[in-house]
Amino acid sequence: MTREVEYAPIGVPQFDADHRSIAARLNALARAADHHGEESAEEAAAILAEIEEHCTREELLMAELSYRDRERHLLAHEDMLAAAREDLRSGRCGWARRVLRTLARHQFTEDLLFGIAITAAEPKERERKTGT
Ligand SMILES: [Fe+2]
Ligand SMILES: [Fe+2]
Repeated sequence: MTREVEYAPIGVPQFDADHRSIAARLNALARAADHHGEESAEEAAAILAEIEEHCTREELLMAELSYRDRERHLLAHEDMLAAAREDLRSGRCGWARRVLRTLARHQFTEDLLFGIAITAAEPKERERKTGT
């Protein structure tokens, strides 16, 4: 049975849109893997590139806002991306489902804390940088 994974919003429109897009692609790939017993390595690599771009966008905003927990969040990105790259290289089926779980944990911890910090930032500064 296929279970869809949804990511809780962190309250920052640009990042929530990224998270929704990544989750939709991962869920679609996981569904395909469940049905066919194999995953498209090309689609997995394309999703991984989207996740990397998203992490870079978060990191740029962390630097701009001088986010206090930036170092810890950067390390979490590094670990998460290294594990996903390694997992993809292994060719083991179920990559999308494993990445869905890893990202869910990341978004419920580091991204949520970052979202709270963005929301608490000076309104003018926040509006200029995130459109919220
Ligand atoms: Fe994120
Ligand atoms: Fe993040």
